[in-house]
Amino acid sequence: MVQSRNPKFKEGDLVRHGAGFQELFVSNGRGVQVLNPDPALPLTVYMHALGGTGITAYGGLLETGALKDGEQVFVSTAAGAVGSVVAQIAKLKGCYVVGSTGAEDKAAWLRDEVGLDAVINYKAQPLAEALAAATPKGIDVYFENVGGAHLDAALPRMNVRGRIPVCGMISTYNGGGEGVRNLFNLIYGRIRMEGFVASDFGHLNAAFVSDMTGWLKAGQIKYQETILDGFDRAPEGLIGLFSGANSGKMLIRIAD
Ligand SMILES: NC(=O)c1ccc[n+]([C@@H]2O[C@H](COP(=O)([O-])OP(=O)(O)OC[C@H]3O[C@@H](n4cnc5c(N)ncnc54)[C@H](OP(=O)(O)O)[C@@H]3O)[C@@H](O)[C@H]2O)c1
Repeated sequence: MVQSRNPKFKEGDLVRHGAGFQELFVSNGRGVQVLNPDPALPLTVYMHALGGTGITAYGGLLETGALKDGEQVFVSTAAGAVGSVVAQIAKLKGCYVVGSTGAEDKAAWLRDEVGLDAVINYKAQPLAEALAAATPKGIDVYFENVGGAHLDAALPRMNVRGRIPVCGMISTYNGGGEGVRNLFNLIYGRIRMEGFVASDFGHLNAAFVSDMTGWLKAGQIKYQETILDGFDRAPEGLIGLFSGANSGKMLIRIAD
């Protein structure tokens, strides 16, 4: 057991922090949050659906994306940690939801367990054609996680006054990804494309925790986890995100 001289913490507290993968670090307590987990939920949900990726999905879709009930939604990396929460919140809001993923088992989970209206395996189908076929009423909100070819396929499908909340562009992070040619669709479509980061949504935290706790307990938000055992597997976990080695949240377990 580790003790702290900071009055904010007592022995045995569970904490969550963003100090990265370190076995030990010295902290003045800033950015370290005491967790009071709901005993009815597994602790790991506080690392995804009830954690950073969850509030990213919640704030990005509802605030930046300004989602309205019943809209047409497209989510890329829909089987990932952020994307799967986005897709399911949109379903809970009565939307028609299309998701993309790069693996057949993930596509099956989205179709059969999550109940998306259409699922595209972008590695098995031509993306632009498949997206056009899956969005007969266009797209009001494209939740952007990928960039490149995904963004290019989504732009011509956007409805007037559509929104593109830009969460990530994973296909472009390592210098890859195709160029985007269809940005001109923003003009006559009066489309708003806006980036955001999770820390923008602190003001939504109370509503997020209340909504998400309820949805998880009711089984209305489903999730997957890919857990690697051992601190030394952290690099493998990070690199695996770029090849789709994870279904849902990629986690490293360092203790039981
Ligand atoms: N703005 C923020 O504050 C914030 C916070 C967290 C995350 N993010 C961003 O949100 C996105 C999702 O993050 P996450 O943590 O939830 O990860 P994740 O979706 O759980 O894992 C990454 C997934 O990206 C997909 N992928 C990897 N390379 C790809 C490529 N070249 N083209 C298409 N898909 C590719 C893979 O899924 P498939 O097998 O389905 O291809 C992989 O499983 C990332 O872009 C990340 O940077 C932003």
